[in-house]
Amino acid sequence: MMNNTCVIVPAAGSGVRMGGAIPKQFLNLAGRPILHHTLSALVKMPSLSMILLIVAEGYVAKTRQLVSQWRLGQPVTVAEVRVAAGGRERSDSVYNGLGMLPEECEWVMIHDAVRPFASPALIRAVWEGARATGACIAAVPSTDTVKLVRDGNVCQTLARDEVWLVQTPQVFRKQIVTAAYERAVSKGWKGTDDASFVERMGSPVSIVEGERTNIKVTSPEDLQWAEWYIATIESGRR
Ligand code: CTP
Ligand code: MG
Repeated sequence: MMNNTCVIVPAAGSGVRMGGAIPKQFLNLAGRPILHHTLSALVKMPSLSMILLIVAEGYVAKTRQLVSQWRLGQPVTVAEVRVAAGGRERSDSVYNGLGMLPEECEWVMIHDAVRPFASPALIRAVWEGARATGACIAAVPSTDTVKLVRDGNVCQTLARDEVWLVQTPQVFRKQIVTAAYERAVSKGWKGTDDASFVERMGSPVSIVEGERTNIKVTSPEDLQWAEWYIATIESGRR
């Protein structure tokens, strides 16, 4: 295991595609908030020094209170869970988190609050995978053909065997991801994942094969699938 790894969990979105008044990370899945599932998976990792949970400004106090009440499974090996405020875009939220990491933090894992099903094996594999290149992400080969579309017309069809769908966790050497985000801010780059900024800086990013069950809960049917999946896992255990 790599020392001094901190985890940033972006949870400051408002869940427009899910709809409803409560942001999806706080919606119940099998009786507890999605965020609770996600944090429970992360605290299973030994030797993580800190989890930094980034929520919308209006949710900071409430989330601190929630997290302090949660039992995140035993034994809890992570030293502490901190809660701080995010920003307008996901990248703003992660950038805020990067600025709050302790000096001694060497590695940064970034994992979406709304991916409750990343397995310990996957989290560990991405973590280990970052050691060589300094940047490693989970991704799965696309089973669908992907086309680029502009103004309602197809402009390109990508070779399916080269298309990978990107997930989190993503793990980086802190220096690399911080430099990439600094450059993204100064150049106005936009990106929906963290690795894209590292790529644009010209640094290598390696891939570990993710899990098709490691979904990002995005729309109401994802939540239905998630309920079904948990029920299936639990009936398998009985
Ligand atoms: N996120 C964040 N800060 C933002 C936007 C998103 O921390 N300003 C987080 C979300 O809370 C989520 C993760 O980034 O855990 C992935 O984003 P996404 O699935 O797009 O969530 P939302 O932005 O909340 O959903 P939507 O795009 O449908 O509004
Ligand atoms: Mg979003």
